[in-house]
Amino acid sequence: MSALFFKRFLKRPFQIASIVPSSKALVERVADKIDFDGARVIAEYGPGEGVHSREIARRMRRDCQLLLFELDPAFSRDLQRQFSHDARVHVINDNAARLLLELRRRGIDACDYIVSGIPFSILKIDKKRTLLQKTHDALASGGRFIIYQVTNELKQHATLFQHAESEYCLQNIPPMFITVFQKAPSLNGREPSELYWTRVPARQSA
Ligand SMILES: C[S@@+](CC[C@H](N)C(=O)[O-])C[C@H]1O[C@@H](n2cnc3c(N)ncnc32)[C@H](O)[C@@H]1O
Repeated sequence: MSALFFKRFLKRPFQIASIVPSSKALVERVADKIDFDGARVIAEYGPGEGVHSREIARRMRRDCQLLLFELDPAFSRDLQRQFSHDARVHVINDNAARLLLELRRRGIDACDYIVSGIPFSILKIDKKRTLLQKTHDALASGGRFIIYQVTNELKQHATLFQHAESEYCLQNIPPMFITVFQKAPSLNGREPSELYWTRVPARQSA
């Protein structure tokens, strides 16, 4: 068990919302949802001690940028240390809700993927919807928002996305739903579902 993770959970139980980081199996299944050949900008909400970030950084291209939004200052310091030699990774010790401002500040148009580990299910409804709207706005056409959560309740709120597909990952404590939401495309009349859903097949539908 990560000592830092457990310490931060004791300090802010509702914000951290878990006593252990994601399992290797969950991390791999989430990363498998990303087409790393095509991804140039990836954002991650709530990386914690960085278990998903390390896998994403390991798989992503040299010209891809990874923006990590972490509210907790101790996790953020640790992430800065871990990625101090990787210029592709930017650690932002701030709320994920600031993503659009941060993109603008950095001259980035949009994200290809946004991966979220923040506890959406315990956010108040107005905060949840605002963050969903900002996430949708920050994605490129056809871009994907990938979340892993104990419940699948976000699906009912995320109606602004064109497509959603879930699977259940039992190999995590606790087991998690992984859901991929897709923003509508503007691609020469081609359906992104033809491009994406056939390329990354779901393992186990839920
Ligand atoms: C359940 S932990 C997940 C950690 C890690 N992604 C993993 O899978 O092990 C949730 C993380 O989200 C962070 N967090 C919660 N709300 C956030 C927000 N609005 N913006 C950025 N980070 C947030 C917490 O500080 C915590 O590190």
